[in-house]
Order: sequence, then C-alpha cells, then structure tokens
Amino acid sequence: MEYKEVTLKTTKEFDEKSKRVVKSFLDEFNRHIYFEPMGSYEVKLFVNNLDFERFKSRALEVKANNGEEEVLSAIDDLVEAVNSIGSYGLKSGKRVYVDFNKERKVKNRKQKSEKRTSSIRNTEKSIEENILPFEYENAIVCADSLDVLRKLPNNCIDVMITSPPYNFGLEYENGADDKKWDDYFNQLFAILEETKRVLKYGGRMIINVQPLFSDYIPTHHIISKHLLDIGMLWKGEILWEKNNYNCKYTAWGSWKSPSSPYLKYTWEFIEVFCKGDLKHSGKTEDIDITAEEFKKWVVAKWSIAPERNMKEYGHPAMFPENLVSRCLKLFSFKNDIILDVFNGVGTTTSVARMLDRRYLGVDISTEYCNVAEKRLASSLF
Ligand SMILES: C[S@@+](CC[C@H](N)C(=O)[O-])C[C@H]1O[C@@H](n2cnc3c(N)ncnc32)[C@H](O)[C@@H]1O
Repeated sequence: MEYKEVTLKTTKEFDEKSKRVVKSFLDEFNRHIYFEPMGSYEVKLFVNNLDFERFKSRALEVKANNGEEEVLSAIDDLVEAVNSIGSYGLKSGKRVYVDFNKERKVKNRKQKSEKRTSSIRNTEKSIEENILPFEYENAIVCADSLDVLRKLPNNCIDVMITSPPYNFGLEYENGADDKKWDDYFNQLFAILEETKRVLKYGGRMIINVQPLFSDYIPTHHIISKHLLDIGMLWKGEILWEKNNYNCKYTAWGSWKSPSSPYLKYTWEFIEVFCKGDLKHSGKTEDIDITAEEFKKWVVAKWSIAPERNMKEYGHPAMFPENLVSRCLKLFSFKNDIILDVFNGVGTTTSVARMLDRRYLGVDISTEYCNVAEKRLASSLF
C-alpha cells in the first residue's frame, strides 16, 4: 500500500503520553493513517484514503477525554497536518485522501513530470516587478493595443483577459473583421507578444477564442501554439458551453453523407497561459472565491448563457460578465491589475471594478470606449 507522507513539527513536545494517545486514536482507522516519531518535536505521518470528516469529529472526542496540554496540542497539530494535504478526492460528498494504490499508477509522478518539462518550465528568470504608470491604472484607453502596450514597462500586469476579434466579418464600429488569416495572426501575435512582456512573472493570459469552423481554421490551436513557441506555459483550457443548440445541423451539400459532414459546436474555448511560473502569488486576504465556487469552477466545462444585451450596448461580440467574473475569481486576487487588450464595451473593466481589481482596458473604437466608461460609472455603487 502506498501512502501520502507528511512531516509534522509539533508545537509542544511529543511526549510518551501523547504518542500513546495518538497511536490508539489512529489505530481506529485501520492503517489508513499511522505515524513514526522522528524526535521530540517531529513526527512522520502516512495517510491513505482517509475520511477526514470522521477523523476530525473523532479527534474532538479524543481531546474531550484527555486533559494534558501536550496531548491536546498533538491532536490539534495532527488534524491541521492532515487538513493541509492538498491531494484529496471526494467520495459520497466526503473529503477522502487519495488512495495511492488506486489513483497513482505512476510512481514518482512529480519527479517524472519535472524531468519531462524541465526545458519548458521557468523560462522567465526576471521576477522584478514594475509599477503600472499612474495614468494607466483604472483607465479605459482608446487606441491600438500595440501602441499602448509599447508604452508600458516590463512586468507590470497580473492578468490579461480578453476576447480577440473573431475575424468572422462582424460589423465592428471601427475596423475590418475579415482579414486574411496570415495578417490576422501576425497582428494578434504582435499584441500577445507585447502582452507577455508586460505581464508579471507568474502573470496570466486568459484568451476566449471561437474558431471559425466554416473556414476550418483552428484559431484556438494556432494561438496556443504561438504562445507555447514564445515560452508561455499552458495552464489549461476551459470549454465555455453556451448551449445554443438552435444552430443548424448541417449544410444541405453535406447532409447525411460521410463525404464532408460539418461539425457543430455549442461552445467556445478559453485558453489559460502563464508567464514563467504556473503559480501566481497573492495575499490570502485577497482571495474572494468561495469553497463552493472553487469546487464547481475547477471542473473546466462552464455552462454560461451568451451575453443577451449586445444590442443595448451596441457591440456585436461581447462576452458575458459571468464568464469574466469566474475567470477573475479563479485566476486573480483582489487588487491585481487586470488588462484587456480588446476591451470592447468594457465587460472586463466593469467586472474587474466590481470585484475590487484594478484595471486597464484598451479598445481601438471610441464609441465602444465611451460605452465602457459609462458602464464603469454605473458599476461604481
Ligand atoms: C470580440 S470584441 C471584444 C468584446 C469585449 N470582450 C466585450 O465584452 O465588450 C474585440 C474588440 O477588439 C477591438 N479591436 C480590434 N482591433 C484592435 C486593436 N488593434 N487594438 C485595440 N482594440 C482592437 C474591436 O474594436 C472589438 O471591440
């Protein structure tokens, strides 16, 4: 049987009485948890497939039957150590530590993963951060993103979240949305490369993409490949399920024939990349995601209705506020600086403000920027 090994430094001396009480307590769990004393203040714990709720409630009962300070403190330390184990699963709604025999088919998983990825991890060595110039903090800037980004210092943004123009031929207020694909990608890549430069070490890019399936251009793969090529680290992909099943089944030319069936998609993609490190640091008091939200949203298929008020805002391709708020709560801390390089009518900036993040939104259209400003004003209170 394999176990999760945890080193526990005890607050008080782990004396003989504590050892006896802890041993008889742990024996109740049939070798799913046991310990080896390492010294007067150190214990090695071995945990396998443990029902944590039962463990906690039994710990309280054991404490109630024992008065010695050392024993009480040892039990508290023990519960805290087991509680802090990150790798657990849920069975029948209970928190259950991974059964390493069942779940871990690969031995030394971490070392092997480190070996496989050593050439692509931690490529960015510069961790010094710069301050975003005052005039860009909590601002909507109407300009070409590339020009704006070039004015920003390195390493000053925590998270960039955006939805680039789709290149579907949509009627944006300003600018063509039907470029040749090469031109489209070259312009987009220039903006993404500058975005990488301005991101802090551990900063993130969250990009919502809907490929143009009828052109057979896998935009999400092409963008992801480019980001990998420039040294960004792939954190994951979320499927944004829009449930718009009213799309037609197929074009008549390919109806009910294997010759060229046309696949239909009711979802879009959200690609998440990191600069230099998969971890993004922040203060515990700046976390605003609840336990329930976290449990739901780490399952990377999100069912969210598309934005219904595009006419009212006068923009043909908005993403919904709910999508942005999930991304921000899951991938950023309060007070982080959030950038959107294609801010449109300001969904990102208004959600960032509502969630107590700082923001910078850039869009090339004056009309859209004006709407974004108005939305900010109405989200003030
Ligand atoms: C898909 S929309 C983003 C909509 C936005 N997510 C929202 O909810 O309002 C893409 C936006 O990119 C803007 N855009 C296109 N090229 C740009 C550029 N070079 N610099 C800045 N904005 C640009 C367009 O004006 C458009 O508003």
